[in-house]
Amino acid sequence: MSFSLLFFSIIFIFLAYEYSYRRLKYKLPSGPFPWPILGNLPYLEPDIFQCLDKWSQIYGQIISLWLGSTLNVVVSSSELAKEVLKDKDQLLAHRPRNKPVSIMSKDGKGILWADYGPHYVKLRKICTLELFSPKGIEALRPIREGEVRAMVESIFKETINPDNYSKILLLRKYLQPVVSNSVTMQLARRDKLIRAVIEAYRAEKRNGANAKPNLLDSLLGFQETYGLSEESIKELLWDVTTAGLETSSIVVECAMAQLVKNPRVQFRAQEELDKVIGLNRVMAESDISKLPYLKCIVKEALRLHPPAPLLLPHKANSNIKIGGYDVPKGTHVHVNVRAIGRDPAVWQDPVEFRPERFLEKDVEIKGHDFRLLPFGAGRRMCPAAQLGMNLVTSMLGQLLHNFSWALPEGVLPEEVDLCGISGMASFMQKPLQVVPSVRLPAHLYKNEGLDTQ
Ligand code: HEM
Repeated sequence: MSFSLLFFSIIFIFLAYEYSYRRLKYKLPSGPFPWPILGNLPYLEPDIFQCLDKWSQIYGQIISLWLGSTLNVVVSSSELAKEVLKDKDQLLAHRPRNKPVSIMSKDGKGILWADYGPHYVKLRKICTLELFSPKGIEALRPIREGEVRAMVESIFKETINPDNYSKILLLRKYLQPVVSNSVTMQLARRDKLIRAVIEAYRAEKRNGANAKPNLLDSLLGFQETYGLSEESIKELLWDVTTAGLETSSIVVECAMAQLVKNPRVQFRAQEELDKVIGLNRVMAESDISKLPYLKCIVKEALRLHPPAPLLLPHKANSNIKIGGYDVPKGTHVHVNVRAIGRDPAVWQDPVEFRPERFLEKDVEIKGHDFRLLPFGAGRRMCPAAQLGMNLVTSMLGQLLHNFSWALPEGVLPEEVDLCGISGMASFMQKPLQVVPSVRLPAHLYKNEGLDTQ
């Protein structure tokens, strides 16, 4: 027997022993049989969410999944979600970081991937007390409204573009000003980009330009107050930008896909918008509170298509129990909020897109009702949930008030594929193609239309 064969046999036996030892020592949740070294990786199909649905039907609403030699526990019921995100919140507030995530996040210097500790608490405070506080959100409202108007204006230009005969547009191009793969941009380029943004901002400030406040403005203002290093500010800025951009545009794209598949819902939303706003001015964020049906559409889209279907991973910081099973220290714990949002024990006709369900019975969405958890709950919950709701609702409201939306000729509603790409953030595999037609007088499509309120 060659030396290398002997070496690999020893490693194999060691890992097999380690698996059996761990599985015998602890009463772990059941799950598919794990192979040494590979664990359950050979069984994973491209659509991970379908795999998880299948396994939780076989093994129950809490399952063990071995990704290589790492134990992952996935929970898929609202009761277990409550146990993870509320009852044992503190014991599960760390984040696991594999090699690429460690490199990308500078070992958790930003907020997304930081373990729960003093550095994290400081960053979280900046988010909740400053950036995403009601005052912080309000301060940046003019910027958001301007951006949404710019999106409407560019869609309008495309609808009257004589060169676009088919009038078909790829909605994502307008929703996502920064392409999604910018998140995976190489580290060197990313650092350079952020530094350039900060330098440009400081130069503008020195020259007395840029009177409008923005997120960077607020963030740099807090650097001294909270005693943060330049690196932490850069990482926080990066995390906040990427977390916000991707998630919000995913929700709007999925909601729009549902609205072209369900013209009845689209029509009802437009009726409400016309009644509240009329046809002679454009929507403002302050209109949202008077648009209950639009708000239900956003909730329904987030129920069926949460952009982070498994939230972000949590990590057990000691040996704990979940659902009566052992969860050893270091285990990665995931809450399958997509499955919870489609659980037939909780939702009637769960896969039907029917916003009215929330008019009939309201369900809280920001972490207090464990049946609907697109933002998570507890101490790692999205700190910008209110901002996310405002952004998504005003984008969607503006799209529906300014345009009617249809599928390209010859495309049937059942052909619109809402399957998401499996990943931390799950966006539609096939970008949505739609045909808009103008609903308002032409002069309102200029960016200054907002001032006509
Ligand atoms: C509809 C829009 C959004 C959804 C559905 C969403 C959802 C989420 C989810 C599920 C998490 C992880 C929760 C957990 O691990 O338990 C998260 C974390 C986070 N989100 Fe959001 N988010 C949205 C918008 C935004 C926006 C607009 C921003 C900022 C501009 C943002 C910033 C963050 C940050 C910084 C975290 C990390 C929090 C932590 O680890 O403690 N999100 N979000």
